[in-house]
Amino acid sequence: MVKPVSVLDYRALAKKRLPHFLYEYFDGGSYAEQTLRRSTADLESVALRQRVLVDIMKLDLSTSLFGQDFKLPIALGPIGLAGIAARRGEIQAANAAHAAGIQFCLSTVGVCGLKEVAEAVKKPIWYQLYMIRDRGFMKELLDLAKEKNCSALFFTVDMPVPGTRYRDNRSGLAGSPGIKGAIRRTWQAVKRPGWAWDVGINGRPHSLGNVAPVLGDNTGLDDFFAWMRNNFDGSCTWKDLDFIRERWDRPLIIKGILDAEDARLATQVGADGIVVSNHGGRQLDGVPSTARALPAIADAVGDKLTVLADGGVRSGLDVVRMLALGAKGVLLGRAWAFALAGGGGAGVAHVLRLIEAEIKVAMALTGATRIDQIDSSILVQDDARRNVFGNV
Ligand SMILES: Cc1cc2nc3c(=O)[nH]c(=O)nc-3n(C[C@H](O)[C@H](O)[C@H](O)COP(=O)(O)O)c2cc1C
Repeated sequence: MVKPVSVLDYRALAKKRLPHFLYEYFDGGSYAEQTLRRSTADLESVALRQRVLVDIMKLDLSTSLFGQDFKLPIALGPIGLAGIAARRGEIQAANAAHAAGIQFCLSTVGVCGLKEVAEAVKKPIWYQLYMIRDRGFMKELLDLAKEKNCSALFFTVDMPVPGTRYRDNRSGLAGSPGIKGAIRRTWQAVKRPGWAWDVGINGRPHSLGNVAPVLGDNTGLDDFFAWMRNNFDGSCTWKDLDFIRERWDRPLIIKGILDAEDARLATQVGADGIVVSNHGGRQLDGVPSTARALPAIADAVGDKLTVLADGGVRSGLDVVRMLALGAKGVLLGRAWAFALAGGGGAGVAHVLRLIEAEIKVAMALTGATRIDQIDSSILVQDDARRNVFGNV
């Protein structure tokens, strides 16, 4: 394949490099994948307003979020099992993010645990947690996040139950327990010798670093998924935010808000921010895309908290679209996972350079020279409001 020049090229590369079941895991969504398709389609259909003869010689892409300064209005969002895409992948991605002047958010269910990542990188990272039934363990994770100087906590609320991902069942990742499933996956791995050598053999341990203390090292995929099913707390409500807030005095961001009413509730529980997200179309299929949900949510919360967004972002143009729809910052999801799978840390660094260049072009041609100038005024109102959102 020729040198990748876009996120979608990295997606193609990821498909070639990863064993089938892993590519399907990263790429797939839940059920019929309607929301997944909407996420990219709705975002793509947001038309940018071309403006000309504006002095664009000085473009400033920097921004500040939660009291921290960043070179770009993006961050690497939490991706479970990302470290299986390349050897100790979370560390490679975090280093690439920091080198680009942005943040990396480690998933609760990363391959590398917080201790490993924090000790391997030079700057503090962001950390994502699900509510875990065992509050004692939850407390330990929060204490470790404090000890390792994590500069923000992302509390993900859109997975009280896991959505079914048909592709994972078909590929053999899920629903293929025991030796038969293991043989199937091993066969898929054998067909990807580059990955098998880099990660399969030399990328061990293949555990979930953060939960290894309760799961033990080197457990199988079946154990991981069973642990997630059994330990994510479906009884968690807004009141349980107190548990987190009492033990976490740094920025707290609620990830997985898709409704203006929930966004308003988020302003009442002491959160510093929200991520408007449908979990990359991996939870309730049929819910709207972020692009569609975001404007009403941003209006509902105003300046009461910082609104981030993710879902379907595959280019710098998409980043600018999300900002124009009301986000202050954008999380990349699959975009960086594909880059990591396709080119390791260098792939992530490359994708970040590509996205930066694309943001610059989008800013230049919409006449915005600073991030805070990107708002709905850079969108073609008819397309942005009527076609995508139907009724405004
Ligand atoms: C393979 C995969 C694993 C994910 N794991 C997590 C996770 O562990 N925690 C979390 O809060 N979100 C997780 N997400 C959701 C992402 O953080 C993000 O919301 C989503 O990927 C954005 O959509 P996009 O990939 O289309 O950009 C995951 C998404 C994918 C694709």
